[in-house]
Amino acid sequence: MTRNSSAAKVAIITGGASGIGLASAQRLAAGGYHVLLWDKDGDKAIAAAKSLASAEGVAVDLGDTAAVKAAAAAALLTHGVIDAVVASGGISGNGRAFAEVDEAFFDAMMNVHVRGHFFLLQALLPGLKEGASIVLVSSIYARIGVKTMPHYAAAKGALLALTKALATELGPKGIRVNAVTPGLIRTPMTEASSRGSDAFFSDREAILPLRRLTTTDEVAASICFLLSDDANGLTGQAISPSSGEVMAD
Ligand SMILES: NC(=O)c1ccc[n+]([C@@H]2O[C@H](COP(=O)([O-])OP(=O)(O)OC[C@H]3O[C@@H](n4cnc5c(N)ncnc54)[C@H](O)[C@@H]3O)[C@@H](O)[C@H]2O)c1
Repeated sequence: MTRNSSAAKVAIITGGASGIGLASAQRLAAGGYHVLLWDKDGDKAIAAAKSLASAEGVAVDLGDTAAVKAAAAAALLTHGVIDAVVASGGISGNGRAFAEVDEAFFDAMMNVHVRGHFFLLQALLPGLKEGASIVLVSSIYARIGVKTMPHYAAAKGALLALTKALATELGPKGIRVNAVTPGLIRTPMTEASSRGSDAFFSDREAILPLRRLTTTDEVAASICFLLSDDANGLTGQAISPSSGEVMAD
């Protein structure tokens, strides 16, 4: 498969209509990428794409593997080569304790975060060439214990394991795979979880080494660093934009 458009590099961003995904799209578009914003909320993705220099919004539900594969096939047909993938699409764990997680919610968590991204990357393989770079958006809860949200932690932990497995398998082809594990970031997802309570955010700020939350743009900066040639020596790594909540050894 060869590159169809002569100029711009192409990035696919799941969850690209909002929060961390949108902030990453803004940085990549500003850096000259043609960005495909894939989101369950297609209208929001299309509207967001209009605000970027070179972008298209596409309605894709990560929970629907057939739709994910169809979207990947369409992207390959149009663009040939995919240079970057950011796997940011996701849903909140909603603070549910272990005993409160039913099978449907567990399955939704795994389908969106893990199954959707697993088969997306598999379907994109023919278009991922030497120099391609992938970043999976995991969470601090894959690295430290959390009192609620074991289903969310399990899904995000699976993404970290997938990062290392794919980094090992795809490394010899010159394809890098890394992850970010953000701490609490103020986005539409966490605004909804906070139910309007500022304490939801300020209580966390008080215990962070930097005494403030990391911003969406700062997470996007970490993602774009991992995608960039400046990170050419890094694969299978996870970095944690979390104002110091997680400190790797
Ligand atoms: N905000 C945080 O504190 C935080 C911390 C660590 C990790 N994360 C992760 O970062 C990622 C982005 O979250 P955010 O905080 O920017 O939230 P957000 O709600 O602003 O963005 C998530 C986007 O994913 C989309 N989405 C949801 N379900 C989808 C599906 N089935 N298919 C395709 N798209 C879907 C939503 O429509 C939304 O546009 C998520 O994977 C989240 O788990 C967030």
